[in-house]
Amino acid sequence: MNKHKVVITGGLMSPALERLQEVCDVRKWGKTEPIPRDVLLEWASEAEGIIASNTIIVDEELLQHAPKLKVIAQAAVGYDNIEIEACTKYGIPFGNTPGVLVAATADLAFSLLLCSARRVHEGWDFVRNGSWGQDHKMPFGIDIAGKTLGIVGMGQIGAAVAQRARAFGMNVIYYNRNRRHDDESIGASYQPFNTLLEVADAIIVLTPLSKETRGSFGREQFQKMKSTAYFINVSRGPVVDTDALLEALQTGEIAYAALDVTDPEPLPEDHPLLKLSNILVTPHIGSATIETRIAMAELTVDNLLAGLADKPLPACVNSDRITRKNKGVF
Ligand code: DGY
Repeated sequence: MNKHKVVITGGLMSPALERLQEVCDVRKWGKTEPIPRDVLLEWASEAEGIIASNTIIVDEELLQHAPKLKVIAQAAVGYDNIEIEACTKYGIPFGNTPGVLVAATADLAFSLLLCSARRVHEGWDFVRNGSWGQDHKMPFGIDIAGKTLGIVGMGQIGAAVAQRARAFGMNVIYYNRNRRHDDESIGASYQPFNTLLEVADAIIVLTPLSKETRGSFGREQFQKMKSTAYFINVSRGPVVDTDALLEALQTGEIAYAALDVTDPEPLPEDHPLLKLSNILVTPHIGSATIETRIAMAELTVDNLLAGLADKPLPACVNSDRITRKNKGVF
């Protein structure tokens, strides 16, 4: 029996990769640099399934090049690189990996807050460069207990961050497009966006990237924040205007930033943000624990195999919009 042809455009953890290879004919891009667009279009022409990664754009052009395609899956909860409307138009279900990465991402978001507030990496530099015992200039951090954390984007990850913050004695407020009454039972109170900017001692951004959220932290928003505010972004780099953030950190408009995501990504080595002393940057590792990445890969393969078998995907972003009619586009 012919095996389904599947293209993988980036990494995929074992053992999910082997599970897929057993039942499908897998073509995998194995290089560190992103798959070139012309190669992707050529590979897509035969593909029945694609496992996408955030280094590729899935748009109408790609879908037009993929007449045999039945399903796209991606090992991420975010899908700003995927044009969902185009997938729906071509009758292609798109599967992502919500849920399984909640704890890991919330842990990372909260550890960025703790590490910044307590100057953990500055302490490590101080030890490593021989200043310990020689110099008294190790900067002090701040307490987080009793401070107000503002969470922007209250989904499952936001709720998990709120729980962690409450356990550390923080007062938690949040802003979300839709008020989330359920999450208020864990002690997070809703505030309008501008109020949150003005009163929060630390802000953690967790919104997905969309037309509405792109650039939602710019000069005006940083000016509203306290000069002692800590700003943490674990969502997507372009939610923040990088130049405005740089200026806010340089002029003391805000105190400190910790970023797991940047714009551009990766940040070039000589980027002015990396020359500042009031910043901590990690390389987009929100979900990067062994257990979580394995679970994300398993769910991605479950999504893909379900789509290849014409079954509902366990986690499908556009399931409600795929109809028999648009499934017949080809
Ligand atoms: C996600 O799941 O969206 C992570 O940011 C990985 O891209």
